[in-house]
Amino acid sequence: MQTFFPVTLSSLKTDTIIGCDIYLLVSDNGRSRYVLYCKGDTAFENEKRELLVRKNVNRLFIGKDDKQKYSEYLESNLQHILSDEKIQPEEKAQIVYGTGTTMLHDVFKEPVHRNIVRSQAFAYNMIDYILRDGRAAYNLLKITSHDYYTYTHSVNVATIGSLFARNIGLNEKDMKSFCTGMLLHDLGKTKISSSILNKKGPLTDEEFGKIKMHPETGAKILRESGSSFKDEYAVILQHHENCDGSGYPYGLKKDDIHYVARLVHIIDIYDALTTRRSYSPPQKPFDSLRLIKTEMYNSVDHAMLKSFIKFLGGHSG
Ligand SMILES: [Fe+2]
Repeated sequence: MQTFFPVTLSSLKTDTIIGCDIYLLVSDNGRSRYVLYCKGDTAFENEKRELLVRKNVNRLFIGKDDKQKYSEYLESNLQHILSDEKIQPEEKAQIVYGTGTTMLHDVFKEPVHRNIVRSQAFAYNMIDYILRDGRAAYNLLKITSHDYYTYTHSVNVATIGSLFARNIGLNEKDMKSFCTGMLLHDLGKTKISSSILNKKGPLTDEEFGKIKMHPETGAKILRESGSSFKDEYAVILQHHENCDGSGYPYGLKKDDIHYVARLVHIIDIYDALTTRRSYSPPQKPFDSLRLIKTEMYNSVDHAMLKSFIKFLGGHSG
């Protein structure tokens, strides 16, 4: 039997092909059933929308197997959705986060040009949304996932990092390339086996050597995909460099590390600590920041950490 997944009427744009069948849940004589309302290959016309608006219906359904198609539909209409005042702020944040994780899942599975371009388009839409919508920060920070997957971690880092970047006054152009870099910062991990990435015990030197290669591998994948990036490379190549020179892959010291990479370094550690890992439960924000301050202080930019703590304090509770 087919199972269904709820979607909202407000997320569907008039006169677009949604790409998957849309159903209504109707009740006849106390029995509920799903009825086909709009076929996936026909346009969702205004008449159809108006009829539902008049009946006060905002909850529609798609087949559970069509979740990917629906997410792709949202992704390609993201700009429209995020500027639509009829859509609730909480729903916008859910759509941004949901389409971001689905999109990155595809990018990490198949890091080719057409997917990498999607991450850039997504980053541009997300930054426009963050800059335009005063409630974006509150709603986005509320929903970042606490379960760790490379792609959810990357969306978390890009979300927290972009909001922090706005907070410390980065301009729009830098925010957009910075956000793209953050989404792709761990792209090189797609070439490391999951048995190493999710290993519970300590890593051998050989395994750690493989982990250390992911910044350069990520940059190589990007270069070979033929995508035209510039500043994004600093985030990917330098996000594991420590200010005291003990990081990898180059052992750069503070002044030689791009300031955006210093920023990502802090958020990368913070998100890894606050999410659930195969080898440890999630830590509370306060405990994570204390751990960075006591045990990793020499590896991070002190002034930036101070600003980050202040930024998080302003958005907690
Ligand atoms: Fe990394």
